[in-house]
Amino acid sequence: MIPVSAPLLAGNELDYLRDCIATGWISSAGEYIERFEQGWGQYCGVKHAIAVSSGTAALQVAVDALRLEPGDEVVMPSFTVISCPLAVVRAGGKPVLVDSDPDTYCLDVDQVAAAITARTRAIMPVHIYGHPVDMDPLHDLAERYDLAIIEDAAQAHGSEYFSRRRGKEAWHRCGSLGTLSAFSFYANKPVSTGEGGMVLTNSDVLAQRCRSLRNLCFQKRRFYHEGLGYNYRLTNMQAAVGLAQLEQISEILDRKRRIGALYDALLANVTGIKLQDKRDWARVNYSMYGLVLDDGVELDAFGFAARLQAEGVDTRPFFMGMHEQPVLRARGLFNGLSLPVAERLHRRGLYIPSGLTLTDAQIAQVARAVKDVVAVAIPRRATRSANPITGTGHRAVWRM
Ligand SMILES: Cc1ncc(COP(=O)(O)O)c(C=O)c1O
Repeated sequence: MIPVSAPLLAGNELDYLRDCIATGWISSAGEYIERFEQGWGQYCGVKHAIAVSSGTAALQVAVDALRLEPGDEVVMPSFTVISCPLAVVRAGGKPVLVDSDPDTYCLDVDQVAAAITARTRAIMPVHIYGHPVDMDPLHDLAERYDLAIIEDAAQAHGSEYFSRRRGKEAWHRCGSLGTLSAFSFYANKPVSTGEGGMVLTNSDVLAQRCRSLRNLCFQKRRFYHEGLGYNYRLTNMQAAVGLAQLEQISEILDRKRRIGALYDALLANVTGIKLQDKRDWARVNYSMYGLVLDDGVELDAFGFAARLQAEGVDTRPFFMGMHEQPVLRARGLFNGLSLPVAERLHRRGLYIPSGLTLTDAQIAQVARAVKDVVAVAIPRRATRSANPITGTGHRAVWRM
């Protein structure tokens, strides 16, 4: 089975881990934490970096740092992972969902303005599968309504966004585009620590809050607390792996982009599938390689995945929209909400292997399997029934 993702641990990971073991610095203090934080902050061009135990933890800490009042609203896409609304619900706030752009899968920025109310405190854009969100319109709204931006850059390591705003015309790394940003270093991300995450911010006040929240809100002195925090600390060992990975980030991203470019070439003109679009203002990292089945394909994403699996190709389904999640609906959220793009992406979309250890031969094998499976799932031609009496119906001729 060709796996969907696999990390590449080809640098100093083992040496740094050995050092942790040899020196006994295996917990959440140690030089690798500081070096990883500093290195990641510098790479993204942001002043403060706070390492945490996962991307989910990063989002929770970032949202908590804003100190929402009960009922404060955060606008986000429905097409994302549950970590996004979870952070807001747990902070006592209310997630407000918008639909997505069918081509880039990122939130539809035109819908955000309409979702803003007197209770809105923040916008949470998510760079889906490493494609940056169009941030300029969101920055305009944030300025106009005095909103924070919590940038979910979990999947967007090294992706870049070209701002067209006056004075900002340049490429900006994802993670530097929010009031706070959140990264994940789960093993399917370009840079991995196994499990791990990072919060970035240029604000001294927010950084101090995030550091405190990650460490149980120890304040002034030990075992004295004025806030409800978490143990979301990253270990020195995970940071050691992260630092070694960061040292190789250009090679990692080159590899991801090469895999993406190969698939782009092999799958560009395949009838029945649509690839994730890339906008001119986006430099994507191809974190995941997604595709969406056309309506003419007589399989949904789950049937398609099963056929690919039989061909030795593993896949993952796209996100199920947050407005369809039973756990959130049971809390009285999103009743009657219909977001057709998110619904369609979930039913028709999946991503194919793009792990860092893939060989060219495996990439070709995956592309061939996709073409073969899609070819048998498209009716070759559909003809109207020639029956003059019934006069209705389509007769599909199947290519088997
Ligand atoms: C967009 C997005 N945000 C947040 C997360 C949460 O990260 P983690 O799995 O490290 O908790 C993920 C995880 O895949 C994600 O894809």
